[in-house]
Amino acid sequence: MFDNIKIVITRAIPENGIKILMEKFKVEVLDGKNISNNELLTYTKDADGIISLLSDSIDKDFMLQCKKLKIISNYAVGYNNIDINAATERKICVTNTPRTLDETTADFVFALILGIARRIVESDKFMRSGKFTGWGPLDFLGFDVYGATLGIIGMGSIGKEVARRGYYGFSMNIIYSDNSVNPEDIGFKVMKADLSTVLKEADFISVNVPLTKNTYHLIGENEFKQMKKTAYLINTSRGPVVDEKALLNALKNKVIAGAAIDVYEREPNFEKGLEELDNIIMTPHIASATKRTRELMARKAAQNIIDFFEGKIPEGAINKEIFSER
Ligand code: GLV
Ligand code: GLV
Repeated sequence: MFDNIKIVITRAIPENGIKILMEKFKVEVLDGKNISNNELLTYTKDADGIISLLSDSIDKDFMLQCKKLKIISNYAVGYNNIDINAATERKICVTNTPRTLDETTADFVFALILGIARRIVESDKFMRSGKFTGWGPLDFLGFDVYGATLGIIGMGSIGKEVARRGYYGFSMNIIYSDNSVNPEDIGFKVMKADLSTVLKEADFISVNVPLTKNTYHLIGENEFKQMKKTAYLINTSRGPVVDEKALLNALKNKVIAGAAIDVYEREPNFEKGLEELDNIIMTPHIASATKRTRELMARKAAQNIIDFFEGKIPEGAINKEIFSER
C-alpha cells in the first residue's frame, strides 16, 4: 500500500505487530541488542518510521541523521529514552503504548511486594542449597502484606492499579503522593499526602512515576532516612528515579528492611554489591513481560505507525502539537 515507506524495527517484537506493518510498508527488523547508535543509523538513516525500544537512546543527533524520519513509535509506555523537544522541533511524531501494561505491571509490583516481604527468593535459594533441615518457629519470619500501609509515589494509571490490588486484595491502607490526581477520582479509599509523609507512613513504597528531570533521584539518601526501618521499596518505573548507590547503602546498613527492583540506573548494569545482599530482589526489567501484554504493545506500536501514515493522529501520540500545523 505504501511501498515507498520504510519502517525499521530495532529489535524483534511479537510477530502480530510486525505482520500488520508488513502488509503495508517495507519493513526491516534488526537485532538491536547492544548495538550502538552508529550501527543503528546505518539502517535508520533512510527510514520514514521506526519502532524503538526503551533501551534505544533516540537523541537529537540521531534524529538529525535520519533525514526522512517522521515517526518514532516507542515500544514502551515510558519514553525518557527519546528527546521529545528535538522531535517536536523537527515535526517528528513520537508515540508510546498507553493502556497496554498497567494491570500486568501492577501484578508484578505485587509479585515483588509478596516476594520480598515473605522472603520467597531467599528461601528458594535456601532450599536449593540443601539447607532445610526441618521446620522452625523462628525461620524466615517476614512481614505481613495484609493490612499494611501501601505508599504509592505517582498515582498514574499503573499506580492506581497497584493501589486497587492493595486495597481490595490485601485490605491495605493506601497513601499516595501525586501532584495532579485527586483522591475523589480513585474510586476507593485512599489518602493523598506529600512525598515526605508517604515515606514516613508506608510499610511498602511503590515508585510509579515516569523518569523526567524532576524525578531523577527522587529517592535518595535523604528519603531512605525518612522511611521506616521496617519499610520496603519497590521500583518498577525507571532506574534513575532511585539513587542506586544510596539504595545499596540503605540496604547494607539496614536503614530500611528491603527492596525489590526491576529497573536500574545504567541498564543492563547495576550497582556492584547489590547482588550480595539477601534483602533485595532484582529482576531484569520484566514488569510488563507477559505474552498477552507484549502482543498488545506490539499491536499498538504498529497501529500508531499505520494511523500516522494514513493521516490520522495516532492514539499513542505524545507530541500532539505537531499535528495542529499540518
Ligand atoms: C517499560 O518499562 C515501559 O515503559 O513500557
Ligand atoms: C504451619 O505449617 C502450621 O501448620 O502452622
